[in-house]
Amino acid sequence: MNAPVRRSTTKLAIVGAGAVGSTLAYAALTRGTARTVALMDVNRQKVEAEVLDLQHGAMFIPPAEIVGSDDVEVCRDADVVVITAGAKQQPGQTRLDLAEATVGLTRKILPGLLEVAPNAIYMMVTNPVDIVTYAAQKISGLPPERVFGSGTVLDSSRLRAALAQHCGVAVGNVHAYIAGEHGDSEIALWSSATIGGVPLLEWPALEGRPPLDAAARERIARDVVDSAYRIIAGKGATNYAVGLAATRIIEAVLKDEHRVLTVSSKLQDYHGISDVCLSVPSLVDRRGVAEVLDVPMSEAEIAGLTASADSMRAVQRKFGL
Ligand code: 2OP
Repeated sequence: MNAPVRRSTTKLAIVGAGAVGSTLAYAALTRGTARTVALMDVNRQKVEAEVLDLQHGAMFIPPAEIVGSDDVEVCRDADVVVITAGAKQQPGQTRLDLAEATVGLTRKILPGLLEVAPNAIYMMVTNPVDIVTYAAQKISGLPPERVFGSGTVLDSSRLRAALAQHCGVAVGNVHAYIAGEHGDSEIALWSSATIGGVPLLEWPALEGRPPLDAAARERIARDVVDSAYRIIAGKGATNYAVGLAATRIIEAVLKDEHRVLTVSSKLQDYHGISDVCLSVPSLVDRRGVAEVLDVPMSEAEIAGLTASADSMRAVQRKFGL
């Protein structure tokens, strides 16, 4: 007798059909990230329109089911739940200015999601993502590895793109991370960064290229911090790169990739930092954040990370977290 055919299915549920949620759905569908992509939004007309638009591209993408609703039922049995819903950052606002609205929203939507998707891995994308992740950890009571934030995966990609352009090398050859808050206090981990196997701090400028000296590094790090503000000023929101970054993280989970990514998770005695969600290089696989990597850091980097943690703790206190 033939063994029964085992069908392995994967379901990704995305909460929030705004610019980020819809772009994430699009990116996940074009990459074949999950067999089912479910989109949920309180605005029924909007979510139905986004789903219809996505379904009309079915002929051009790997096979997938695309569903959407304003009912949380649509997220039932999801393997990964991604929360993108929340207040929109206006020009001039920082991510932290959104904390009150988005922490409140997290308190409201998470219990219903946990009921329909109790075994899912939960990823927060909504800003301020480190605070929202910390709140989601507390509210859900799930094991810490199953609740994390997209953190500085996007910022690390921005850093790599800027370094690649500055140095004249392919972005895939740049290994450099942004750690800390996904926001104004984030820091570049220069001391562990490499380009083509060469420690970044010793990078010899290629012919016709500017040196990667302290001034250049400072300018690049500042540009990374400021880039979201520039995009929001120009078009009202960021969506493409964050959609791709989130898709990359989801794939690390669904495909059990053991990939090193700077997701935001709850730190315990990490270079002396505890009880706060921040991004540091971490191993992501089917378990979620399987491990936080003990990356060597310079004194200045540890001081920067500690300052980032202090600023997160002040916000946590303000919202009784
Ligand atoms: C970004 O960095 C605004 O957090 C969003 O693109």
